[in-house]
Amino acid sequence: NNQFCEGGIAYGESSCGASIPSSSNKLLIKGGTVVNAHHQQVADVYVENGIIVNVQPNIVVEDDVYVIDATGKFVMPGGIDPHTHLQNEIGSMGIETVDDFFSGQAAALAGGTTMHIDFIMPIDGNLTAGFEAYENKAKKSCMDYGFHVAITKWDEDVSRDMEILVKEKGINSFKFFMAYKGIVMVNDELLLQGFKKCKSLGALAMVHAENGDAVHAGQQKMIEFGITGPEGHPLSRPALLEGEATSRAIRLANFVNTPLYVVHVMSIDAMEEIAKARKSGQRVIGEPIVSGLALDDSWLWHPDFKTAAKYVMSPPIRSKGHDKALRAALATGLLQLVGTDHCAWNSTQKALGIDDFRQIPNGVNGIEERMHLVWDTMVESGQISVTDYVRVTSTECARIFNIYPRKGAILPGSDADIIILNPNSSFVITAKSHHSRSDTNVYEGRKGKGKIEVTIAGGRVVWENNELKVVPGAGKYIQMDPFSYLFDGLDKKDVIYLNSLQAPVKRAKSTT
Ligand code: URP
Ligand code: ZN
Ligand code: ZN
Ligand code: ZN
Repeated sequence: NNQFCEGGIAYGESSCGASIPSSSNKLLIKGGTVVNAHHQQVADVYVENGIIVNVQPNIVVEDDVYVIDATGKFVMPGGIDPHTHLQNEIGSMGIETVDDFFSGQAAALAGGTTMHIDFIMPIDGNLTAGFEAYENKAKKSCMDYGFHVAITKWDEDVSRDMEILVKEKGINSFKFFMAYKGIVMVNDELLLQGFKKCKSLGALAMVHAENGDAVHAGQQKMIEFGITGPEGHPLSRPALLEGEATSRAIRLANFVNTPLYVVHVMSIDAMEEIAKARKSGQRVIGEPIVSGLALDDSWLWHPDFKTAAKYVMSPPIRSKGHDKALRAALATGLLQLVGTDHCAWNSTQKALGIDDFRQIPNGVNGIEERMHLVWDTMVESGQISVTDYVRVTSTECARIFNIYPRKGAILPGSDADIIILNPNSSFVITAKSHHSRSDTNVYEGRKGKGKIEVTIAGGRVVWENNELKVVPGAGKYIQMDPFSYLFDGLDKKDVIYLNSLQAPVKRAKSTT
């Protein structure tokens, strides 16, 4: 029996609050404004066995159907978070993030996110071992998930495993760390080899863009200056180092002629490199994350260590002004989709760095807060439309990772991953009421307009009346095929390039 109740979360088929009915395989969402990235209309949405069957006004159904009234509310595709780290280990420090595939996903569902793509870390550089470890971690999943795989070394085994993962295991993206020197950082030679392999497989290359050698030097400089507190973290790795690595990765991807995805764009410096490349016609995707859009670095100077340490992540949260520029870039399409980089630690773990900021585990929460904060900061402020909200929180991610329109849309045939947002209600964020296992929240006390009142995942009502009803094991692994739209026509560019090369110059043999 897998039915029990813990901290307001009902695990299993029955509801401890008695407000959510036991799972009905037929569902009708009536009278809401149904929003897709390309269109919105007042309509009903009819769901059967986890799949959207019909979207049109005034659908008539039998009485065995569970009906939800969405009049005056927005009915939208569930959020897809392209960037999370659940049960992520920092091997060198012997610690793991506090949210696993169950608690992290429960938090996600309470915040309107119905799928995430997590990063598989290889084990001693071995991709297959890493994949198997994450397959196991994800068995308790209560929502759908996919994986990216990090590449931390290069040899024939890695190259072969990349191919197996793409062709047999549903992986279509690989991440390269240009920072974390001595741990997972790769050099330019490896970037070139990795990008080339990605291109041949139709897999998307992703980069964590910071100059790791310079970061290392910057950290040593801070320690020499006697700056050991959390403020040493942003001081040691300024935005220019993010700009440099972003520009280098973009140029190397251009040299190889493969698309590039820059994860956690935190600064104007990085954003402008992406904008410039896109303007020149290069296929580069930029992913801002909620902490970069909604916070600034002033917290890192807070006199209380516990408070300041919460905000340590890499690349660092930047000074006031970067946040506003990133929001504008997202609003105008220079950046394409929003992630979280959810990588939650508790304050005991963060305290490992009490005497040395280099030992503070990097990462902030966000998986539960993303949908509300993007709504409040972007839609409520008038910066983006409701259709654009759907695009940047769900649809664009589904397109980039080649799972659209199964995900990212409210269309007949799509998975029934749906949220209902009430624009006239409001939300408050606190560690006391959030569903992450962390004892802190970087958005503590934050209030805003718009509240996700209902989350439906795979046709199941999992969040209603402020109560979660999730089933461990109900989440499915979503295999993602290679050669997304970002690869369309790339080979034509290669042919044009080859044709443009001059024939070898014939020179007479020297006689002297
Ligand atoms: O500080 C962060 N971002 N921690 C997670 C690992 C990464 O770099 O994405
Ligand atoms: Zn309960
Ligand atoms: Zn990263
Ligand atoms: Zn990350």
